[in-house]
Amino acid sequence: MKAKRTIITFGDMRVGKDSDRSKRTPTVRKIKSAIVAVDRTKSPAGARPRVETGSSAVADLGAPTAPRPTLAEQAALDRIDLSIDLAPARGASEHGGLILANPILVASGTFGYGVEYGEVVDVQRLGAICCKGTTLRPRAGNAPPRVTETPGGMLNSIGLQNPGVDAVIEKYGPIWQTWKVPVIVNVAGESIEDYVEVARRLDGVPGVAGIELNISCPNVGKGGLQFAIDRDAARAVTAAVRRATELPLLVKLSPNVADVRPIAKAIEEAGADAITAINTLSGLAVSPDRTRAFLGNTYGGLSGPAIKPVALRIVYEVAQVVSIPIVAIGGVTSLDDVLDFLACGAVAVQVGTAIFADPELPVRLGDQLRAECLRRGFDSYRPFIGTALPKRTGASSAKGVEYRP
Ligand SMILES: Cc1cc2nc3c(=O)[nH]c(=O)nc-3n(C[C@H](O)[C@H](O)[C@H](O)COP(=O)(O)O)c2cc1C
Repeated sequence: MKAKRTIITFGDMRVGKDSDRSKRTPTVRKIKSAIVAVDRTKSPAGARPRVETGSSAVADLGAPTAPRPTLAEQAALDRIDLSIDLAPARGASEHGGLILANPILVASGTFGYGVEYGEVVDVQRLGAICCKGTTLRPRAGNAPPRVTETPGGMLNSIGLQNPGVDAVIEKYGPIWQTWKVPVIVNVAGESIEDYVEVARRLDGVPGVAGIELNISCPNVGKGGLQFAIDRDAARAVTAAVRRATELPLLVKLSPNVADVRPIAKAIEEAGADAITAINTLSGLAVSPDRTRAFLGNTYGGLSGPAIKPVALRIVYEVAQVVSIPIVAIGGVTSLDDVLDFLACGAVAVQVGTAIFADPELPVRLGDQLRAECLRRGFDSYRPFIGTALPKRTGASSAKGVEYRP
């Protein structure tokens, strides 16, 4: 992700005697990766004023160069409640909910099975880990190339490469069991039977805290139509998995639909405990010689900062039509992004692509959120949730599309 491409431009493209292209000296400039995490708390243009506490520790807490907070500041920070239950409806039942110590999770496909980052990240300080997409049988994934960088993001077509659910349980279950951080297994399949069987095998496995259904998969029973773009298919797969497991169940929305709200409602009605939004946007890159699509799989999923406005819009719309918790994902690189998603109704946030450039970012965001609560005089982060949503129920954004190009 540190790639810096060299691009060559010609200063003046006008036709005329002084603008003969062959005579001009090309301008060579480097463009930096767009996925480098930014810390807007340090920017003069940042939305939040700096805190006046007599110490800079609270203002900068969580920043890479932050000084250590004083003992009194640390005690105040420790009192702030960042916990969240992602399955509150089950919380009261004998099965319990899905309680996270903080609302910053790592997104599926960008943090492996958690163990890979053990050397560089204190994984126990994450809110939760959503592991790589897991299928019933092992999958080799798509043909290469599988990733390419794009302005403000990346395209991937990994194709759910994974060793299959039994191998995941055998290899990682015993490790996850010893962890404090909850691990949510991301589940994919090509038929309802696939999803149900994976869920059934995960049910009751020590170390598995919940399931996140990746329903952006072709449904072979419906001629390859994705579960995520069809309300009835989304409802059916959610209901079937709900019957197969007592585990907390999150279902992940695809942005590749005209209106996500009926799908989100169907998922809620079918018994999901929470909704995660969003998965990647369908995209395409062209090979350098322009003779074919670049990715081996032709299509890829767009992720990174470029998709944040789409993710915000979807979270904003879904928050107005469901009452189960929403976990937001899409282009998070800073505390401002986290606060934006909370303002649009999310109760927690996942970090994905940004991890490739900055694996410690999710842990830092948790610290920064805590510091922001202290700065604002909040004893929990709850007051940040939903502040940007329409103040009256039944706003047009709960029904129609506000903007039509
Ligand atoms: C390399 C890569 C692999 C991914 N694999 C999965 C996956 O297996 N299952 C899934 O539900 N989402 C997968 N995603 C989607 C992310 O979890 C996330 O929804 C998306 O990247 C948007 O978040 P971001 O902009 O922060 O990356 C993957 C994303 C990337 C970049």
